[in-house]
Amino acid sequence: MTTPVTTPDEFIERWRTPPNLRVSNALTATSFTFPPALDVLDAVRQDDEVRFTILGDEDWSVRMDRTAAFRTAPIEEVATWPFRLVHFNLTRFYDSVLSGFQEQVMIPWRTQMSSWGFTWQRCAPLLFISTSGASSTYHNDNSHGLVWQIEGAKTFHSYKNPDQHLTAEAAVVGETTAEEPPEHDPADRQSVRMGPGDRLWSHALTPHWVTTESPLAMSVTLSHGGLCHQGRFADRELALRAYWDQHPDEAWKLDLRNVRY
Ligand SMILES: [Fe+2]
Repeated sequence: MTTPVTTPDEFIERWRTPPNLRVSNALTATSFTFPPALDVLDAVRQDDEVRFTILGDEDWSVRMDRTAAFRTAPIEEVATWPFRLVHFNLTRFYDSVLSGFQEQVMIPWRTQMSSWGFTWQRCAPLLFISTSGASSTYHNDNSHGLVWQIEGAKTFHSYKNPDQHLTAEAAVVGETTAEEPPEHDPADRQSVRMGPGDRLWSHALTPHWVTTESPLAMSVTLSHGGLCHQGRFADRELALRAYWDQHPDEAWKLDLRNVRY
């Protein structure tokens, strides 16, 4: 599988071009300890800005009932339902369940990236929680993601050579999004299994999908919009900038993530 990037020089050399990279903990060390995923889920599910989708083969009426009860049902029971959940504004929890995240994760990461010569327009954490049987959609994001698996396991699927499957221009206009990936040769796929503590660099505008490999899985993606190293964007991001130059009213509308996670 992919050899992890272990030094800043190597990261600087490889951040710009697919395929995705495992990133060693040596580059992403943090003193922050997450609360258990179940506790995070319990806090986040009650927030107005949470988004979740109940999945599974049950009858539609069961899924409707679960959707209605998602915020209030006993948390241990909710954790047995197939679902995926995202939250795009974790600052809402910096004074509660994610106390210390700003000081121990975001500030050190931004300081480190800055010291390596990076600039960006947006850098924010996104939270993903899912249960057994739940997959993300097939999509691409406008941002680069440092995907950080916290609890449980997921597999992050993308392509060894995204250009063979989706041009940067097609990614920019969102031709990707679907519930499932299209038919493809499994040999073209890059599937990275991620356990607790694992990090992966996911390139902007590359199609991907994520499958849950444990009963409950939680990850956080540090999302980077408009990332540059010494003034240079990533190869695929140039297509986004060219598109926004021609369609300024659409710039930043899908800023950090795909609206369909
Ligand atoms: Fe994504």
